[in-house]
Amino acid sequence: MKIKKYKILVADDEENIRMLLGETLKDESYEVVEVDNGKDAVEQVKTNDFDCVLMDVRMPVLDGMEAFLKIREINNSLPVIFLTAYGSSDLAIKAMKKGAYDYLTKPFDIEELKIKVRKAIELKELTENVPSFEKEENRYASDEIVGNSSKMQEVFKEIGKIAESDATVLIRGESGTGKELVAKAIHHHSTRRNKPFVVVNCAAIPESLLESELFGHEKGAFTDAYTKRIGKFEQANEGTIFLDEIGDMSLNLQAKLLRVLQEKTFNRVGGNETITTTARVLAATNRDLEKLVESGEFREDLFYRLNVVTIWLPPLRERKEDIPLLVDYFVSKYSEKYKKNVRGVSKEVLELFMEYDWPGNVRELENAIARGVIVTSAPLILLEDLPQTLQSKIQKKEENKAQIDEENLNLPQLIEKIEKEAIIKALERAQGNKTKAAQILGISRKSLFNKLRYYNLIKEGEENGKSEDS
Ligand SMILES: Nc1ncnc2c1ncn2[C@@H]1O[C@H](COP(=O)(O)OP(=O)(O)OP(=O)(O)O)[C@@H](O)[C@H]1O
Ligand SMILES: [Mg+2]
Repeated sequence: MKIKKYKILVADDEENIRMLLGETLKDESYEVVEVDNGKDAVEQVKTNDFDCVLMDVRMPVLDGMEAFLKIREINNSLPVIFLTAYGSSDLAIKAMKKGAYDYLTKPFDIEELKIKVRKAIELKELTENVPSFEKEENRYASDEIVGNSSKMQEVFKEIGKIAESDATVLIRGESGTGKELVAKAIHHHSTRRNKPFVVVNCAAIPESLLESELFGHEKGAFTDAYTKRIGKFEQANEGTIFLDEIGDMSLNLQAKLLRVLQEKTFNRVGGNETITTTARVLAATNRDLEKLVESGEFREDLFYRLNVVTIWLPPLRERKEDIPLLVDYFVSKYSEKYKKNVRGVSKEVLELFMEYDWPGNVRELENAIARGVIVTSAPLILLEDLPQTLQSKIQKKEENKAQIDEENLNLPQLIEKIEKEAIIKALERAQGNKTKAAQILGISRKSLFNKLRYYNLIKEGEENGKSEDS
């Protein structure tokens, strides 16, 4: 069997560097082509198939950055690693922004260089087999609710069933599960689709303003009411009004809303005229309304009025089979939005996504991918492109794995490792409160301090009784 020999282009005007790189890479059994200026580098890429380019920034005839831009036009997936003596973050950022694979400052560490080259080639191989989203535009209509899981299919069916009616719908689910998206979908699939869809976020508007926001006010109704103003209920006439975060509405306004739902009428603030509305009401909340009813913060009669038709959105962790589809959807959306050529996520990233429990649900996933698309310099989103919260999840996993290391079965050492781990976890759970942490661990406070000192987990001077919980 013939083993594929990878081909590397080295572009540098310094002969010493070219020689050093050439020798090193040939020793690693790469095929190497050397040029001493940017123009020749571009010519080489036009006529040869390379797997990686190492490029100096300052070169005669055509400098590295310009050559790189030309190379990008010829071959969009060829990884380019910049070499430069001028270690400025500005240049690094500029290169990475334009899609360079990586960047090394001279004098560079040869071992590091070898690793970077190997990784660049691996990634190139990996991404060449990924299907492109090109020519698949409009795969998704805007605001589409993505989901193949049976739980989401149920949601779609329910939306279909109730969209055409004028019923008030309560949409419930954790933060970021897509409640607003569902509200839009209901409106869009109703006969009101060509009429206004008006959103009011009841938690974002101060209570004193919310009433006039919803119902409008007459001129002179309050100090700042210089003119008459139409409220959202009137704006939404014949259309749909979406009351988001309804659980945060004050009791006073709840009573007024109840009247709208029962009688379809309201008064503008400071007005006597009874106004009739034909707006359809959709409401959403991530709060536990039953509990709020119990504690008297939410009117029971309003709750029952709203609760006639309820759509529950399942948290993402209960429908993980939707994750790959959502990933595709968001990668394609943000790749287009930020004009990048990102085509997916690496296998490790997808594995992590499938394991993670997504407290922020789809919104958290969407944000992670939007960020990944922006920061990645590869056609794939890699582990290092993910936000810190997700990355620390991997670290924790690895730490846990390290607890019992097959290589080291020395019992006292293992026990110490586990003890230290337990102390750190207890401190986390007690939010740094040592007395509480000691209680959780079932040891005295004094003995906790001894252990903290032993494991170097305590700052100088923290132990002399001046800690937060003394
Ligand atoms: N099934 C889905 N398919 C595609 N995008 C989704 C889906 N679910 C949620 N999103 C996206 O995730 C983000 C959060 O959704 P949305 O604002 O509807 O959540 P929410 O339930 O209203 O959250 P909150 O309670 O925090 O207001 C939006 O950008 C939305 O487009
Ligand atoms: Mg919302």
